[in-house]
Formats: sequence, C-alpha cells, structure tokens
Amino acid sequence: MAAAAPPVDDTITLDQLARDPFPVYRRLRTEAPVCRVAATGRILLTKAADTRYVKDTPGLFSSDDPDTPMRRAFHAHTLMRKDGAAHQRERQAMAPAFAPRVIRDVWMPAYQRIAEEYVARLPRGEVVDLFPALSGPYAARGLAIVLGLDEASDDEMQRWSQALIDGAGNFGWRDEPFARSDAANAEMHALFDRLAVRHRADPGPSALSVMLNADDPIPHSQIHANIKIAIGGGINEPRDALNTTLAGLLSNPDQLAEIRRTGDWDRAFEEGIRWVAPISVSARVAAEETEIRGCRIAAGDTVMTVQASANRDEDVVENGEVYNAFRTPVPHQSFGNGPHFCMGTHIARRAIAQVMLPVLFDRFPNLSLPDPEAVIWRGFGFHGPVTLPVLLQ
Ligand code: HEM
Repeated sequence: MAAAAPPVDDTITLDQLARDPFPVYRRLRTEAPVCRVAATGRILLTKAADTRYVKDTPGLFSSDDPDTPMRRAFHAHTLMRKDGAAHQRERQAMAPAFAPRVIRDVWMPAYQRIAEEYVARLPRGEVVDLFPALSGPYAARGLAIVLGLDEASDDEMQRWSQALIDGAGNFGWRDEPFARSDAANAEMHALFDRLAVRHRADPGPSALSVMLNADDPIPHSQIHANIKIAIGGGINEPRDALNTTLAGLLSNPDQLAEIRRTGDWDRAFEEGIRWVAPISVSARVAAEETEIRGCRIAAGDTVMTVQASANRDEDVVENGEVYNAFRTPVPHQSFGNGPHFCMGTHIARRAIAQVMLPVLFDRFPNLSLPDPEAVIWRGFGFHGPVTLPVLLQ
C-alpha cells in the first residue's frame, strides 16, 4: 500500500510555537509525529529517532533548501546549506580554528579573561537582567576573538547576528529585514577586508586568518559567507544556552547547591541544552520521494527536524519536561547530527560550563531568581529566555 500524505494541522499558530512550543510538541509526538503544520508550511518531525535519521541521511535529505530567504539575507550560499564534497571542503577550511589544542591553549584562556572582566563589572546587591548585561556580550566577545574580528564591538557583533537571523527568517520577503541585513553585510564586508590585511601579515589561529592563509584557499566570497554564518549562528546559541542553564539551576536551588558542591558544571550545562535546545528546528529538503513512519514525503518537501522536541521524547528520556541536572545523561540533539554537526560544540561547552558558570557563582555565591515568572521565553527557530532578571549577591 502506498504511503499516505502526512496529516495536516491547521490549529497550531506561529505565536504558540514562539511562546510555549513544548505542549504542542508533546501532543504532536503522541498524535502526529510526522505532521504538516500549516502555519509553518513545513512537515514537522518531533520524534528523536526521526530527527536523527534525517540528519544522518544527507543523501536523501539535503541541506540545500532553495526556497529560503537565507541566501538573500547572507548575500551568499553558506556551508550550512551545502551538501557532500562542497560542504566538506568549506568546513575543512575553517576547521583548524576549532582544533582541540587551539581551543585549550588559545580560546579558553581568552574566554577566561573575558568572563572575569565581564563578571567583575556587574553590580552587587541589585536585580539585573543578565541577557543584555552578561550573556549576550560574553557570547559576542568570545566569538569575535575566535573568528578573528576583535575590532568589532560587542554591540556590532550582536546587531549583525540579529540582522542576519531576521533576514534569513524573513519568509514574508518584507523589505525592512533585508534592508537591515544588507546594511549589516556592507559593514561586515568592510571590516573583513580591513582585517584581512593584518591577518595576512600576521597569521594566527582565528577562523578568518586560517581561511585566508590556507595553501589552497576557498574563494574569497565563501570566506566571507562562512564567517557570516558563524556570526549568525555563534552568538544566540551560547547566549541562550547560558541563560537557559541559569534559569534551570536558579529555579532548582537544591540542584544548584549540589552542583556548586561537586563543581560538575558540565552536567548542569548539558541538561540545560537538553531541556531547551537553543536551535529548536533545522530544515532539510527531500531529494526524492520517501516515507517516514508510513507518511509520504514527496521529492522537494521540506521537513523540519524539531530537536527541541526530540530532546524530550518519551522514548529516550523520562520526565523530559523538567530540568534535572542529576538525571542519567541522555543523548540530546542540541548540537545536531550528521555532517553539519555544530563546529562550535567544544568551544561552547567549555566557555559556558568550565569558564562562565564557575566564575559567575564564585563572585555571586548567592545568586538567585527573585521572580521566576519574570523569565520570559520566546522563539520558534531559536528558543531561550529573552529576560533573565537575577539578584546578584
Ligand atoms: C550552545 C551553543 C551552540 C549550539 C546549541 C549550536 C547548535 C548548532 C546546530 C544544531 C547546528 C546544526 C544545524 C543544522 O544541522 O542545520 C550548528 C551548526 C554550526 N554551528 Fe553551532 N551551536 C552552538 C554554538 C556555536 C558556536 C559558539 C559556533 C562558532 C564558534 C558555532 C558554529 C557553527 C557552525 C559554523 C555550524 C555549521 C556547521 C556545518 O554546516 O557544517 N556554533 N550549531
């Protein structure tokens, strides 16, 4: 018997997915794990086995989605949207900047200095929103150093990142988000060209430097494209991962006390991004007709792997809706799977779990969340707290 088309849900709204997606995902996992959600125009996959399968099968599920506004926003076709050898070539070009030895000897000491400086400037005894005061700037500064863009300010890095994200998500093809991403592109290109002179004269381990100085460099346009994808994809997630982990710990003071006693911040971080995946969804396009769980996926259909849902799938995790740093570790999918697995995984893990969390709690041992209701969560593609007002003490 031929596979049936996936069921269609036209009740779910984009607003619901941005504000409180987890009850929707829970229902879909039970009732319709392969479901065309009309508001997104995409087929959502909400079970862990399916999201993993799609990302691990790039021959059948391509990353090259021709219908998204991403190319327009980035003025480029980035490595994230390429497949096979073309993807590997560009990924390899950036890889030396992410080598374990470079992370240990160069980037982590830099993150340590930044963490100490940024935590030291926080006031004591006041309620402060950590999103703008710490998490955003920390993620921006660290990334600027790793990419070789140290002349860019924290505000510029965050503004460019947001402009690229808003442009890439501009499915209504409105003018205003593209005007902002166009302006950001112009500013970024000017900076990259200015810095290229210095990086050529004085090579270092940063992503821009290793790509420029390679024996067989990738085209100039792709060097720019992939620095931009790292800007668009390397600030929000560590920022949100830090905020999410803090929200989980501060809402569970017993767990926080135990983590402080053991110093096992890795566990707190890993559970934070399992609980709320900073990148909730990824898109893949079916290269030919196929089926998942008996539902037909036509050639050219875009499926969305919902890793935010996979991480709470009842088949792999018990009571996944709650933050529990002491659960038996479960294999989460927050860094993706397959050939596009996040290049910044080890940097993000260490910069947050081994650097920022210990530095922050060392300076503010009684850090607390005076009003848990004041933590506001938002976002469909990216999900995390947009406010995190904590009492610094
Ligand atoms: C907690 C923090 C982070 C999370 C949760 C995260 C998550 C992800 C995910 C899910 C993907 C795969 C997307 C897909 O399959 O389509 C990805 C790709 C990527 N990430 Fe991250 N990321 C984080 C931090 C970073 C950082 C700090 C950097 C840069 C320093 C970075 C650089 C990249 C790059 C370049 C890719 C594209 C890889 C490729 O297409 O081959 N990420 N990230």
